[in-house]
Amino acid sequence: MLDFVEEVLFNEEDFKTICKRLGEQISKDYNGKNLALIGMLKGAVLFMADLIREITIPCNIDFMEASSYVGTKTSGEVKINKDLRNNINSQDVLIVEDILESGFTLDYVIKILKTRNPKSLKICTLLDKPEARKIESIKADYVGARIPKDKFVIGYGFDYNERYRNLPFVGVLDLKYAK
Ligand code: IMP
Ligand code: MG
Repeated sequence: MLDFVEEVLFNEEDFKTICKRLGEQISKDYNGKNLALIGMLKGAVLFMADLIREITIPCNIDFMEASSYVGTKTSGEVKINKDLRNNINSQDVLIVEDILESGFTLDYVIKILKTRNPKSLKICTLLDKPEARKIESIKADYVGARIPKDKFVIGYGFDYNERYRNLPFVGVLDLKYAK
């Protein structure tokens, strides 16, 4: 075991099971609609890649980058670093996020996207820390798994100061290594 990983929460088999379940549900719910998936960079890249391969209906994909995090704490101040390429007017937009915590990031992103008149706008998140929510109106419509708010995770897209995104599992960072 890697010494900076306290505990492994999800492995490749779990991602497969989660993406299969979510992909089937999304394919059913969006059948006949104009599904536009928006992957939130950079954390959701691995999840997005696995999820879209389990979606069996036509869809388009795009990416957006917002940041609010420094180290293991959210700064509360959100910035858009990269905007969409596609027009989402009249599209059924599904935001694909790595993790929902306070809700600040998606609250900000959703306010911006709503001004562009999508037909519908929903959230799909790999992980949810519901106890950490600060903006109650932000709820995930599709959730891979729920985790306690005191666990800071790394791997499978999740970073600590831009490191560890490449680990093929989601693990809890040993806070001794969070400096
Ligand atoms: P929110 O704005 O507080 O909902 O934070 C969401 C963003 O914080 C996510 O997109 C992640 O980038 C980051 N984040 C929250 N919790 C974790 C974690 O446990 N590990 C790594 N990044 C996290
Ligand atoms: Mg993120």
